Amino acid sequence: MNKQYSRETILGGMQTKYIGRTVHFYDCIDSTNVRAGELAADSDAHGHIVVADTQTAGKGRRGRSWESPAGKNIYFSLILKPDIAPDKAPMLTLVMAMAVLGGLEQVLQGTGLGAQNDGLGNGSADARTLCNGNLGIKWPNDIVLNGRKICGILTEMSLCKNRIGHVVIGVGINVKDQDFPEELVDKATSLEAECGQEFSRSLILQEIMRVFEEEYGRFQQTEDLSGIVECYNAGLINRGREVRVLDPKGEYTGVARGINNNGELIVELPDGKLSNVYAGEVSVRGIYGYV
Ligand code: BTN
Repeated sequence: MNKQYSRETILGGMQTKYIGRTVHFYDCIDSTNVRAGELAADSDAHGHIVVADTQTAGKGRRGRSWESPAGKNIYFSLILKPDIAPDKAPMLTLVMAMAVLGGLEQVLQGTGLGAQNDGLGNGSADARTLCNGNLGIKWPNDIVLNGRKICGILTEMSLCKNRIGHVVIGVGINVKDQDFPEELVDKATSLEAECGQEFSRSLILQEIMRVFEEEYGRFQQTEDLSGIVECYNAGLINRGREVRVLDPKGEYTGVARGINNNGELIVELPDGKLSNVYAGEVSVRGIYGYV
């Protein structure tokens, strides 16, 4: 049987040098993050991806589960074995958020739903106005389309004598139209529901891998986000918006100004002072809704 979504369809158009060049594909698995963690024991697994059509125990952030119906969405985990200090690993989640944003923009532009053409064969600078709506990043790593989440990222890491053993970056992207659980109906959406046309999961994955390899190369040069901060902030949907910072030590509100080179969100407080918010400790909500 010629499957529409398989190891072969994913590898068929892969343009990268090493990221995503080895694909471990499963029709059904508990969690691609769990499987990736097991495979990461193999020293050659750097850059491998684990992809599944459905997950029976998909993991979300903060101990939540991740709904993973079959035939609908992208669920994958990228294995990295970076030689960096463990406290730098959370930045890789933001690198992946950039890659998902860039990859989706590329796919949407290819369909004509993305950037307006400038008449010279180039897309316009504002590739983020898509499907009559907006695609962007909700800090630190949710990808949002028209105010609703279409992608979540969960990064997990193993340590070995205070060094990183491996990092697994797990990504779930809602592609096909689907019924979301009641608690998510107002917050989640899918590419196809918003854009009214079909998308190839393989093509999306290929584009994300391509952009990730580029962005990861930039990250490696400085081991911080200085090479991508401008681009990240341009795609940051809560930039310039009032946000509520859910800090366990006390909630407060301010205006999100963008991230710094370490991936912290810079929030301007009512008295004009700046607060650098670290994603590990807190989350951020919009004042008037999810974004
Ligand atoms: C979030 O809560 O926003 C993060 C969700 C991450 C889900 C993805 S799906 C592929 C990978 N495998 C998992 O078990 N979780 C991640």
